[in-house]
Amino acid sequence: MTIFSQVNASKLSDTVTPGHTLPAALYISDEAFQIDMDVFFFKSWILVGFEADIPEEGDARVVDIGNASVLLVRDDDENVRAFHNSCRHRGSRLVEDRVEGISRFVCPYHQWTYDLEGNLVHAPHMGQTFDKTCHSLRPVNVRTAGGMIFICLAEDAPADIDEVLAELETRLAPFDLSNAKIAFDQTITEEGNWKLSVDNNRECYHCEGSHPELINTFVGLDIGFDPEDVSAEELRDYERHCIDAAAQVAEWEARGYVSHAIERYDGHETLLRTQRFVISGAGESHTLDGAAAVRKLLGENTDPKLGDLHIHLSNAWHHAFADHAVFSYLVPVSPTRTALRTVWLVNKDAVEGVDYDLEKLTEVWIATNQQDADLVALAQKGVQSFGYRPGPLSPFTERTVAVNQEWYLERLRAHGY
Ligand code: FES
Ligand SMILES: [Fe+2]
Repeated sequence: MTIFSQVNASKLSDTVTPGHTLPAALYISDEAFQIDMDVFFFKSWILVGFEADIPEEGDARVVDIGNASVLLVRDDDENVRAFHNSCRHRGSRLVEDRVEGISRFVCPYHQWTYDLEGNLVHAPHMGQTFDKTCHSLRPVNVRTAGGMIFICLAEDAPADIDEVLAELETRLAPFDLSNAKIAFDQTITEEGNWKLSVDNNRECYHCEGSHPELINTFVGLDIGFDPEDVSAEELRDYERHCIDAAAQVAEWEARGYVSHAIERYDGHETLLRTQRFVISGAGESHTLDGAAAVRKLLGENTDPKLGDLHIHLSNAWHHAFADHAVFSYLVPVSPTRTALRTVWLVNKDAVEGVDYDLEKLTEVWIATNQQDADLVALAQKGVQSFGYRPGPLSPFTERTVAVNQEWYLERLRAHGY
């Protein structure tokens, strides 16, 4: 049975009502899950880690995406490389989880040995005619920008990653995140389809009702609103805020902190939405009161008020502030389960207990992530129940969900689904 037959239609485009949530089969069926993995996690560029995961030469970390296991490596020249985590002899997994400061990968099975560039350098008892150069580790496409590591498992990786990386590099350069350190690292499981996790991230319609910690630093109407549902006084206040925010954005841009909104969905293989927002409260960071949590700011910058640089990617979302960055990415585990990893990045010279208090640094997004995970689990239960029918998205507060969904459908069609 295909996802198409489950929803009694022959084409995917026929199964979706524009501006609505997706048919249940796309959130629950094994076949839809396999198609998603193929298109969005094996053929597209995805975020799978951070330079801070492998800061030193000889550090390596394993990332598992579906049935693909990939080794991220910092080589002798400090470049980031990626290889399939499978020995070229009889296929053994080379590294179980992570290693630090090694000079060679030695396979645990028969001790074939590879250097950090993936070359097979030792393979005893294979005969005089055995050509080691034909048995290097199989490379995986890998790129970095702004401290992030992206891979593409397809051999013909989408070329438009260059434009996305250039934009990210420009916007994130002042934070010097490739030299930052991970102050806190958390992986949680969301009990829902990965698209429900992404949809939940693309809107903040739910923020007022579910994120009491986060909304301290948000300007409520920035998330979109129906003018008919807002009082004249609220509207006047918001117009004043918009004038101030526009002036702040112009000032940031004049100082070289690129802040204007960019939305790359339609017609692009690799999506990107990014914008720098003014923060409420003390105006510095996503903490309970909006004040910076880290005394030693990121990079060389000394201005604690650089706003909230949002970045949305196909499997990731980030916020970068002057004092820290909180970066998240997801990896689907099953049709109804998704792993979400979040790291809190700070200046590598910042000392816990001296320059920052870990609880103050992490409490807003630890709470927010759990609240989001709870919402995703509720949504999953609802969409897989017998009575579920696709529901309408708000044109005011969920436009970006609809835009993201259109991009998703466009990519499926481009791959023949
Ligand atoms: S499987 Fe790796 S050395 Fe044999
Ligand atoms: Fe949320």
